[in-house]
Amino acid sequence: MSNSILLISADKDISDSVGKALDGLEDVRIDREDASVSKLNGTAVEMAANHDIVIFATDPSNAADLTAIEHLTEQRKEDTVYLALTDGDLPLSKARALTRAGVDDVLPYPAANDELLEQVNSWLAKKRAALEEKYANAASLGKVIAVQQARGGIGSTTVAVNLADQLLDRKGTFKKEAANKVVVVDLDLQFGTVGDFLDLDEQEGLLQLAVENFLPDVHWVEQSLVRLPSGLAVLAAPQKFAPLDALEANQVQVLVATLKSMFDYIVIDMPRALVGWIEPVLEDADKLLIVTDMTVPAVRASRRLMEFVLADNAQLPIEIIVNHEKKPMMLREHHREAAKALDVKFNHWIAHDEKAAREAVDFGKPVSEVAGRSDLSKGIAGLAKAIMTELPKDKAVARVQ
Ligand SMILES: Nc1ncnc2c1ncn2[C@@H]1O[C@H](COP(=O)(O)OP(=O)(O)OP(=O)(O)O)[C@@H](O)[C@H]1O
Ligand SMILES: [Mg+2]
Repeated sequence: MSNSILLISADKDISDSVGKALDGLEDVRIDREDASVSKLNGTAVEMAANHDIVIFATDPSNAADLTAIEHLTEQRKEDTVYLALTDGDLPLSKARALTRAGVDDVLPYPAANDELLEQVNSWLAKKRAALEEKYANAASLGKVIAVQQARGGIGSTTVAVNLADQLLDRKGTFKKEAANKVVVVDLDLQFGTVGDFLDLDEQEGLLQLAVENFLPDVHWVEQSLVRLPSGLAVLAAPQKFAPLDALEANQVQVLVATLKSMFDYIVIDMPRALVGWIEPVLEDADKLLIVTDMTVPAVRASRRLMEFVLADNAQLPIEIIVNHEKKPMMLREHHREAAKALDVKFNHWIAHDEKAAREAVDFGKPVSEVAGRSDLSKGIAGLAKAIMTELPKDKAVARVQ
């Protein structure tokens, strides 16, 4: 996956010549912002932190610039690199002022193209190495929860998204601190709606993975996912149509392994189709949730799904999630029949709660945020709690932070 660089300059000559120098970089997306640092609007400032490297032209004698740079670097994601481009004859004291304002390095301008390229390349290499080191010792520890549906529209995406949200286990005032690192992955490549449920802009990562056929790594994952204010990481399905068989089993296997090194819990919204590349997910899963209701066709479909999965993964714990129905005081006849047909106990029931489901979808937010006291939210919270108890997070992932 490509890196991205944001080039900020009000001076067209500078931005053209630097842009041209950076054209020599392979696999790097260059975005431009034609304004001076002190004139950047809030969106641009926020956007800057989504780049690997931000290069901006500045005159450090200009107090407004310095203040703006401080503001810019305050928004930094931990690994965005800020490079200031300034007059080549900058006195040391001025360079220091820039460093104090949070700049990682000062590049002289004008500079020979290859010199600039070399500097930027070395920062990119440093970033990559740091990222790899960060996760190197965390081998495969996160817990994988795959979510399947007994029939279309039964609510599996609702369960996946909100389960992931509740697995954050937020604590503290305003529930701001997430105790767990959680990612929700939409492997329903063609019809995935996780991004819609969370009101996210289009994400192309998984499409690129499917079409370009490379093996994903930590760096690609970091570039491809979106983090919500709650801390939830989301790898959404593409809007464009991806051929289902474009993904390869080994890509998915490496993807899951990579996610396991980065997160405590990985919740995967599975495709309906039983394509070959779901096998590595099932092989690696710690639990499979099948979302169903108690109608005869859905119970039968659940059963076929269980048989299919257990044939190759006899050890995989499967849990049936009964959606649209509150847990009854006593199982009724058709419940008992269903339990018998599936040879399972129904431990988890999620009430039919149209209002809460609708609000969550309308606001593009997890139900905990828009209707925290609703039956829907409580049902999913109960499920999350049970999963955290049964599959406690591995402490080794927590070390990597
Ligand atoms: N417990 C519930 N009570 C009321 N509405 C619900 C409940 N669970 C899900 N829904 C609603 O049902 C609709 C379908 O849900 P969802 O998209 O999660 O299903 P799905 O199984 O993922 O469907 P798809 O086949 O499209 O993948 C959504 O509008 C959702 O808000
Ligand atoms: Mg769905």
